[in-house]
Amino acid sequence: QIPQDSIIWSQEMVRSTLPKRAQDSHKGVFGTALLVAGGPDMPGAALIAGLGALTSGVGKLAIGTYRETIQSIAHAAAEATYVPDALIHIANGTHSLTSYKAIACGPGTLPDAVTEAAIDSLLNSPAPLILDAGALSERSYDKRSAPLILTPHAGEFSRISGYSMEQISESPGSCAAAFAKEHNLTIVLKGPRTTIAFPDGERFDNPTGNAALAKGGTGDMLTGMMLGMLCCHENWRHAVLNAVYLHGACADEFVKTRSPHTMLARDIAELLPEVWKQYE
Ligand code: APR
Ligand code: MG
Repeated sequence: QIPQDSIIWSQEMVRSTLPKRAQDSHKGVFGTALLVAGGPDMPGAALIAGLGALTSGVGKLAIGTYRETIQSIAHAAAEATYVPDALIHIANGTHSLTSYKAIACGPGTLPDAVTEAAIDSLLNSPAPLILDAGALSERSYDKRSAPLILTPHAGEFSRISGYSMEQISESPGSCAAAFAKEHNLTIVLKGPRTTIAFPDGERFDNPTGNAALAKGGTGDMLTGMMLGMLCCHENWRHAVLNAVYLHGACADEFVKTRSPHTMLARDIAELLPEVWKQYE
């Protein structure tokens, strides 16, 4: 079947859907996010995604990663708590997932058997779940009822969906929408113009972002931001859309005064406070 046309997620829609932070709120209102990320050779992915989550509305952030990774990033993400060797504990069922408001897994993780077993447990948890990077592989998502959000770039989407790169570059929206509907999940298909396909067939195109984002680590930042936004938004779909929009808007803010060659993923989290404020 032919998926319906996409809608541009506009500045006005962002303005009308960003949440207030109530004056009398406390951290428990926003909840605890779990970020499972980082590996021995990619500790920075956990840090970058962690900074994204911490600046995007969480109440508390728990970063599940390797023991060695904790040592190397804890000083830079001092506001987070840590779950040592999280993948193994989640895979074995020895780390409870019931108290998390939202969960993200994948930045910097290795796509191995332990990760796969951990993802099985994560898929059974009741919280909205984002799978990215090392957590993206071909699998069945049938048992899940809570929101599931996959954030592949075109190469990763080809790997998990079986669509060829040619098919995806020719009609990214139709491919994303068909896969989202078939598997009852959300696809954030990343690229120069990111498209977001929801399980009910609704699809949005993101108007922000530029080539400053074409650098390693920016996708990890997006995953973290989306995790944080899931904690402070009541509507999970708005959280997904606003994360993609503001991530791109930060890059647009950067290039107003600086060369796109020079942006670092972490600059996005540094610019987010003032960019977010422009839409509040
Ligand atoms: N214009 C606008 N946006 C862009 C552009 C562009 N020209 N190029 C990239 N982007 C945006 C994408 O839309 C996306 O949000 O930058 C982000 C890049 O995300 P990823 O492709 O996931 O890149 P990266 O952060 O390096 O991923 C890190 O995950 O995908 C794996 O193999 C990758 O292990 C690596 C890790
Ligand atoms: Mg990536």
